[in-house]
Formats: sequence, C-alpha cells, structure tokens
Amino acid sequence: MPKFGHEFKKKYYSQLYDDVIPVNHGSYGTTPTKVIDRLKKACEEEETYPDEFFNLTAKEYYTKNLKCLAEYLGLDDRNLALVPNATMAINTVLRSIPWDFKNDTVLIHTTTYGACSNTVKFLHDYYGLQFDITNTTYPIEDNILLARFEEKLSSGTYKLCMFDMISSMPGVTLPYEKLIQLCHKYNVWTLVDGAHAVGLVDLKFIDELKPDFLTTNLHKWLSVPKSCALLYINPKHHSLVQTNPFSWSYVPKELEDSVEIDNNTLLIEKFWYLGTVSYGPIICIEEAISFRKNICGGEQAIRGYQNELQEKAIPLIIAAFGPGAELLENSTNTYHTPGMFNISFPIEEAHRPVLNYLLESFVSFRKFKAACEARMIKEYRAFAPFLVHNGRIWVRFSVNVFNEESDYSRSAVLIKKCLDECLEEKLNTLKVEDIKFLSI
Ligand SMILES: Cc1ncc(COP(=O)(O)O)c(C=O)c1O
Repeated sequence: MPKFGHEFKKKYYSQLYDDVIPVNHGSYGTTPTKVIDRLKKACEEEETYPDEFFNLTAKEYYTKNLKCLAEYLGLDDRNLALVPNATMAINTVLRSIPWDFKNDTVLIHTTTYGACSNTVKFLHDYYGLQFDITNTTYPIEDNILLARFEEKLSSGTYKLCMFDMISSMPGVTLPYEKLIQLCHKYNVWTLVDGAHAVGLVDLKFIDELKPDFLTTNLHKWLSVPKSCALLYINPKHHSLVQTNPFSWSYVPKELEDSVEIDNNTLLIEKFWYLGTVSYGPIICIEEAISFRKNICGGEQAIRGYQNELQEKAIPLIIAAFGPGAELLENSTNTYHTPGMFNISFPIEEAHRPVLNYLLESFVSFRKFKAACEARMIKEYRAFAPFLVHNGRIWVRFSVNVFNEESDYSRSAVLIKKCLDECLEEKLNTLKVEDIKFLSI
C-alpha cells in the first residue's frame, strides 16, 4: 500500500491550501493534481482548433473514456452515458418519462437528496405528478426500512421509486440491492441515486440486478474533476430516455422512420453532445483511473486506508465533541461507507431552545446552517456539514487518502467551537426575537 496521509497530500494534492483541514470531500470531491493538469491540457486542446475539436475529436474522447470507465467498473458500456452531474441524470430520467399525470405516483424517501426530490416536486407542482414519501428517519434497522418500502411498493400504487444507495445527510448506506429486488418484485421502476457510490462501493451488481436507471457522480469519489457523472440506463429504456437539455440527438416523431438505430451505440449517439460544453472532465476519466490504479494501488487499497482511518477517527471526534456524542449506526452495522460517517453533536442544555427552534422551521434551520457553515469555512478553515435529524445535530465527516488521524482530532475541536458559538449567538437573538422557544 502506498504511504497515504499528509505526505501523499503534499505530493499528489498539492493544490490544497495548507491551512485548511479537508474533512468534507463528500460534497464536491477532491481532484488529484495530476488530473487537474490533464484538465488544463484538455481545456487548451479544445481552444487550439475548436472546429476540429467539437466536430471530430470530442466524440472520440467521449467514447474512449466511457469505454475505459466501463471496463474499470466491469460494466457493459452500451448501457452507460456520461452527464455533468447526478442532479442532471435524475432530471434526464424524470423528465423523459411520458407520465400519465392523473394516475402515476412516484415514491421517494425522507432523506432523498433535496435537489432530486425537488425535481419530483416540480413535476408535481407544474403537471400534477403524484408522489409519496417512505419514512427513513435514522437510526433505523434495515429490516424495518425494507418493510416500510415493501408496505408501500406492494400496494400497486407506484410507477417508479427513487432511492439513494448512500444518502447525503446523514451519509449512510441503504440496502440498495434489496430495494432494487423489492421494486422488481412489485413491478415498480427503479431510479437509483448512487451519487456517492462509485469509488466507495463496487458497481458490478448493476448488470446483474438491472435497475431501470442509476446514476453516480465521478467527481465525488472517483478522482474525476467536476462535473462528471455516469448514468446507467436499462436496455429496455434506451429509446425512451432523452438528454437533458434536449439537443440535436432528439429525433422528432415525424423523422423516426428515416433514422437508422444501432442499439450498440444508441446511448453514445444520444449523449455525446449536450450542446457546447467543455469535454475537459470527460477527457480526464482515463487519467483519474490511472491515478487510482497506479499511484493509489487500486480501489481495495484506497478503501482499506479509508476504513482503517475511519475507525481511528471516530473515537477522536467523540472525545472532542464530549459526553453524549456517538456514531450513527444500526445494530447490524450496515450504514458504513469507507468515505463518510456521522457523529452526533451533543448540545449544552442551555442551547436546547435553539434546537427546538431549528426543528420547528426548515427555513430557520437553513439560515442558521448557512451562517454557521460559512463561519466554519472562512474563520475555522475546517468544515464538515451538519444537519438536524430526528431531534439531534449530526455532523458528517469524510475520509480520503490524504487524511490522517490529526485531521479529525483538530477539526472536531474547531467544529465544536464554531457550533457552540453559533448556538449561543442564536440563543441570544431568540431571547429578543422569539421568547416562545425558551419555554419549550
Ligand atoms: C445523494 C445525492 N444525490 C444527488 C446529489 C447531487 O450531486 P450533484 O450536485 O453532483 O448533482 C448529491 C450531492 O451531494 C447527493 O449526495
């Protein structure tokens, strides 16, 4: 195994600021310096002779990098497309389906990523698509979560179920293979949000279980620069799915008979050109894979380091947060991902009215969170996102090959200080603004 940690960071992630403790690459990913260099070259290449690049070269790059990725993941490249991000992939699918708005219902869950549930809510608000929500309030045992989904799915009400492989906040793994099987059992289409999946878990199950649709971001955990995501489309839906935005690949009904379709290349023909965008991130896929294989020693070596470091980091953070802090887990330890974990933040009794206030209003929580996180980022230079979930504050930490134990002991102290300060300040404004919460 290569020597991961701070020396590795200096050598292979040299663009990172020295004074920042990076413990949140779950949100946007962190690109190795070598891959950024490749990106710079790709941007230059696009500009040397744009007519040649966009007319002739871009499609070749798209196809080559897509195939390279498919081979690395052990997947059939004919079912794969590259899009800029997971939100775009979810929009691509949800806005391609010819919904029967009077009769179709979509099932999501409490912890569905907001941007993705908003796509469903847009279709509801503008066109009347129905949706329903399964309760995924944590902590929850997998068998209870599955039973809740099954109770809904077995009702025959749903056309499609959208669920996470690894949720964002809190950062926990769902029993996604079993959920796909449940949806198949009840003939419900599956739209699997695996935004955090590639680079953290194996994806070979896709070609075996054949969900209807699945997306995963390459920029979060696979070392590819922003913005790049994979969209898997089950062969039975290749012709149904259109790009988002609609572009030149759309074949209007009146021309359908005049266009020859090759099922082996249909998704490449559809997705290689989404309008004029930079191909930089796509061109970097090969370089990112080479970094992971040749410099990091492969996926198992990376995950091995993340798992070991995570085990050491958890007690350090718990010690810094103080009595009452604990890891979010269930009795069968299935929430685990190599890259992320969540620790509860114990709040002082005096600050409880603030928590009550935050629990009561999503808008107030958003404002408080934005102000507090901005302070963590700017003043403390150690940022980990937090949420209020099931009556408690949870902080999500990320683990990568450039981290060491000291990142967690140091960042936890700073994050605690920042959160305590923000809670205290909010308590003082509540005393003036809204006395009601002080008595709850
Ligand atoms: C579960 C989940 N879905 C979707 C997304 C959206 O990813 P992006 O912003 O790259 O589209 C995220 C981002 O964090 C996520 O965590």
